Amino acid sequence: MDDAGRAIGFGLVDQTKLMTAASELARNIVLYANGGTMTIEHARAAGRSGVRLIFEDGGPGIADLERAMQDGYSTGKGMGLGLPGAKRLAHEFAIASTPGVGTRVTFMLWKR
Ligand SMILES: Nc1ncnc2c1ncn2[C@@H]1O[C@H](COP(=O)(O)OP(=O)(O)OP(=O)(O)O)[C@@H](O)[C@H]1O
Ligand SMILES: [Mg+2]
Repeated sequence: MDDAGRAIGFGLVDQTKLMTAASELARNIVLYANGGTMTIEHARAAGRSGVRLIFEDGGPGIADLERAMQDGYSTGKGMGLGLPGAKRLAHEFAIASTPGVGTRVTFMLWKR
C-alpha cells in the first residue's frame, strides 16, 4: 500500500492513513477469520484519483455489525478501535458481513 499510495502521489499524511487502516483491517482478518485477501485498486472517477483497499475473508462473519462499528467493542482482547478507526480515516468505507459466510471491507481514500 505504501507503494500504491506513493505511486499516485499521496502525501505523507495520506500514506500513513492508508498504512494504518490496512494494518488494522489485515490484523482483523488474521485474528478473526484465519486469513483472507487484500486487493489494492487504483481508482479513478471524475478526474479524481485514489486508492481502494478491499479485504475479503471466508471467516465466521460478524453477527452484530452495528456494535462492531462502535468504539470499544471487541470480542477479543483488542481495544475495539480497528473498524471504527479505519472508517474515520476513510473517505468512503463499507462493510458487509454474513455470519457463517465471511466479511468484506472496502476502504477508499481519494487523493486531495
Ligand atoms: N474480519 C472479521 N471477521 C470476523 N469478525 C471480525 C472481523 N473483523 C472484526 N471482527 C469483529 O469485530 C470486532 C471489532 O473489531 P475491531 O477491529 O474494531 O476491534 P478489535 O479487533 O476487537 O480490537 P482492536 O482492533 O482495537 O485491536 C472484533 O472484536 C471481532 O469480533
Ligand atoms: Mg481489530
